[in-house]
Amino acid sequence: MARVLVVLAHPEPTSFNAAWADASVAGAEAAGSAVRFCDLHRLGFDPVERGAHYRIDGPFDPLKAQESRPVPPDTAPLAADLEWADQVVLHYPMWWFGPPAVLKGWLDRVLVHGRLHDVDHRFDTGRCRGKRALLCVSTGATAAESGPGGKEGDARLLVWPVAYALRYCGFDICAPVFVHGVHGYLEGAEKAALEARLRQVLAAQAGVMAGLAARELWPFNADTEFDADGRMRPGAPVHWPFITTG
Ligand SMILES: Cc1cc2nc3c(=O)[nH]c(=O)nc-3n(C[C@H](O)[C@H](O)[C@H](O)COP(=O)(O)O)c2cc1C
Repeated sequence: MARVLVVLAHPEPTSFNAAWADASVAGAEAAGSAVRFCDLHRLGFDPVERGAHYRIDGPFDPLKAQESRPVPPDTAPLAADLEWADQVVLHYPMWWFGPPAVLKGWLDRVLVHGRLHDVDHRFDTGRCRGKRALLCVSTGATAAESGPGGKEGDARLLVWPVAYALRYCGFDICAPVFVHGVHGYLEGAEKAALEARLRQVLAAQAGVMAGLAARELWPFNADTEFDADGRMRPGAPVHWPFITTG
């Protein structure tokens, strides 16, 4: 039985993103998975990493503080959810070409140094190897604006830092699901068409969840494709413009 963690990063319970996350939960349950749901806003999650979360003396060094024990009471159960799950699904809207602050803070605080990753356990030796992550992301921009040559930036690159944080911890990264052109400014027939399209997305999510274990993965370079200085070896495949050939 798969263990699925669904994380929602949206402040409004009646939003499309909230409905989409609910559809992921229902789809995973229908597929026979054990499911945990983490609604970061409903939890009142504090995304700002700072010394006040820890019992430390002296200056606040975030990586060292995260290694110290106990892990803060608000992040400990969320880190435990990540350790429990073998499939993690993140639902968020694109906000300013990246994730909402609450999700960035979830990465900052819940990917606990010394627990979810450390210098000896990252990328191919990451603690989360064998687990899969799926990003489900909505944009206000249209598909054309969010694709190759699009003026709002290629959505695959805009989500890459979130995906790579999870890859750093060892996750396999599934090809994301994007829903474009989602916003509340349409009227009349255009609004009705958007609502119909979003209903189709929600209906299709059960199939996405049922197929998660076999979903196409994004390619990343293996550790062996970098030299001792951490530079890509000549001839290694170039998968993403974030890791350049020099
Ligand atoms: C603060 C903020 C920043 C936004 N930035 C972007 C952006 O960079 N690119 C984009 O396509 N849409 C952007 N949007 C639009 C949201 O992505 C869109 O409203 C959302 O995906 C709709 O989903 P929802 O109905 O669940 O909120 C932004 C919206 C807000 C509130």
